[in-house]
Amino acid sequence: MAETAIAVYPSPRARVQAMKEYHPPLGCRDALRLDFNENALACSPKVREVLAGISAGSLTRYPEREPVEAIVAAHLGLAPQQVALTNGVDEAIHVLFETFLEAGDELLLPVPTYTMYEVYASATDARVVAVQAANDLRFPFERMLAAITPRTKIVAIANPNSPSGSMATRDQLLEIARRAPHALVLVDEAYFHFCGETVVDLIGTIPNLIVARTFSKAYGLAGLRIGLLAGPVELMRWVRRVLSPYSVNSLALACLPPALEDTVYLDWYVGEVNAGRAEFEAALDAAGVRHWPSRANFVLADIGPRHREFTHLMREAGVLVRDRSSDPGCDGRVRITIGTREQMRQAAAALNETLAVLRAGTEAQ
Ligand SMILES: Cc1ncc(COP(=O)(O)O)c(C=O)c1O
Repeated sequence: MAETAIAVYPSPRARVQAMKEYHPPLGCRDALRLDFNENALACSPKVREVLAGISAGSLTRYPEREPVEAIVAAHLGLAPQQVALTNGVDEAIHVLFETFLEAGDELLLPVPTYTMYEVYASATDARVVAVQAANDLRFPFERMLAAITPRTKIVAIANPNSPSGSMATRDQLLEIARRAPHALVLVDEAYFHFCGETVVDLIGTIPNLIVARTFSKAYGLAGLRIGLLAGPVELMRWVRRVLSPYSVNSLALACLPPALEDTVYLDWYVGEVNAGRAEFEAALDAAGVRHWPSRANFVLADIGPRHREFTHLMREAGVLVRDRSSDPGCDGRVRITIGTREQMRQAAAALNETLAVLRAGTEAQ
């Protein structure tokens, strides 16, 4: 018979006890998915062919990431030692913070920005210094410079930023790296393909610059979880010590080379998104909805106090969008991922239908 005893569980670190739980609103996403900035359609057909050819035997082996790292490095014009593949950019951020942030260090962020920087920083003993963007949501360059202190250890900049879609210029990034030589400047280029601007070419020439890239967005491989960190060899060697040797699985590694090779598919998808964004922005203008200029595969729209109802009604109309009201300075704002032109026509129809219902409700009151 099992003994009855009062269970006593060992406690986690105090830092972990203070962490907020992060629950992405996934589940029941059987609709047009414009809520997570994923590729809204599919990955390259060449990737699907490779996936279909993966043998059961190959799954018995531990994944070897070095050969694929060499391919990706060549694709970026870098040396293999300057690139580490990771289980998505999320793991890249996590590992970078674990490698470099100590008690008393500061992580400097413009906000609003990608949520996971704060989540992973909160598991370390570093302090988050958040610089609020003004109402135009442009990159708060001057205030970022002013917030650099001798304790700044990492400056994390999503470029383009989410949820705003705004960008820091190359000169601004360089100036930040120059003014914080004791800190690492992480430029997260998750949405690079939609804007075409990068600082990857500066890796190795700027000693404190690190770039992250994901294959979850334009390439459509979010489910495979693959991303990368690129930086000077002298920094990457520390990152590799912390990085789990097998965190990138063999399916993701097999799919990466065909994804990189199929530039026709990538260019087509990016072209669709950029044209779809222009059309959808025009639909927002026609409907009198304010929005912020975006260089990424999403647009932030100012829906106002009825943002919850809006998000709910859009879902009822078959389109998932993301309420960003709880982001700093984003009350009433909803982020809408941009997919193909055809998908965005469907989204624009749902938008007009939803706004008509909301307006009719207001008039009836
Ligand atoms: C700025 C930014 N970085 C990183 C990620 C996550 O990338 P991954 O899927 O590679 O973990 C996202 C996802 O939304 C993002 O917006």
